[in-house]
Amino acid sequence: MITFDDVSVRFGTFEALPSFSLHIAEGEFFTLLGPSGCGKSTALRAVAGFVDLSAGDVRVGGKKVTHLPSGKREVGMVFQNYALFPGMNVRENIAFGLRAQKRPGSEIDRRVNEIADQVDLSQEQLVKGVAELSGGQQQRVAIARALVMRPKVLLLDEPLSNLDAKLRRQLRSQLKDLQGQFGITTVYVTHDQDEALSMSDRIAVLDRGRIEQVGTPEEVYERSASEFVCTFIGEVNRLSPRLVGALAARGAPELDPAESTYVRIEKVGLVREGRPHRGPSVRGTVMSRTYHGTHSVYRLRTEHDELRAVLGDGDGPHLAAGQEVDLVFDPASLMRYRGASAAGGRG
Ligand SMILES: Nc1ncnc2c1ncn2[C@@H]1O[C@H](COP(=O)(O)OP(=O)(O)O)[C@@H](O)[C@H]1O
Ligand SMILES: [Mg+2]
Repeated sequence: MITFDDVSVRFGTFEALPSFSLHIAEGEFFTLLGPSGCGKSTALRAVAGFVDLSAGDVRVGGKKVTHLPSGKREVGMVFQNYALFPGMNVRENIAFGLRAQKRPGSEIDRRVNEIADQVDLSQEQLVKGVAELSGGQQQRVAIARALVMRPKVLLLDEPLSNLDAKLRRQLRSQLKDLQGQFGITTVYVTHDQDEALSMSDRIAVLDRGRIEQVGTPEEVYERSASEFVCTFIGEVNRLSPRLVGALAARGAPELDPAESTYVRIEKVGLVREGRPHRGPSVRGTVMSRTYHGTHSVYRLRTEHDELRAVLGDGDGPHLAAGQEVDLVFDPASLMRYRGASAAGGRG
């Protein structure tokens, strides 16, 4: 549905996107994830027609749109701040694009009512000023304003970033439901890995204008293709070469101290001293615990490393500081990278 074909975008001498190729399938909820400044918005704007390409092509629905003006691309875009018109009421905001196309008034009314109904905005809300609406309602107006134009794709640039954490979580599912209901191909931009993992069909992880990995949430989380992806997403421990060597000697000969080796903090097994367990392990001491309600994160010290590990709230009594435990590693859950920097990535 959307194809980036060797796209380059330059700002002066700076290459924001050096050579960007990606295909997004019809109906996908696709996320561009990466740290601030990595080129997510630039990629989105390349689809919308708000930046000029210095090379390559963008296709939407099989059609080359590289040289089409934004208004002719059949894409709808929702911005971080929603960019609603403050002087207009909700109905006028949603109708704006249709008015600009000089559609007949009866058609405009019909289409605005239809879309308002679909995104759950009531007739009373339609006559309100946008400032009178909650953050969640404003987001629905911004989406309705985009969808009323019947775009082929919906582009969302960090639409939840300005909201507080609780509302953000609520709106995630609202957004996802809306997307499912319309079945519209959606490109979602965020720097929030939790958002990306919980909402997306597939994710592209970006670093400095380059795609590091494209995959399902499970793939990028559990089989991170690069050290950057591994450290940017989720929480990891980097194992010291000595610890890797110890594990290699205790039943995991495939491990290599010369590789950068990581484990996600929830994949470290914690077994009370002396209890039976399977898999290579090392002895450690509990240093501290941070309580998170559903789970606790422990800091532990082993002979050469300081590691973090997680126990769910239902996993028995909390461990006390000073307690001795065995840290158990499943070799299959370790992520290993060759020739990587000793600094442990840039995340
Ligand atoms: N109009 C512009 N002029 C110059 N540099 C820009 C412009 N837009 C973006 N950039 C630069 O391009 C890089 C990528 O920006 P952007 O796509 O906005 O990143 P993101 O959305 O991932 O935070 C950044 O280094 C940014 O400073
Ligand atoms: Mg951005």
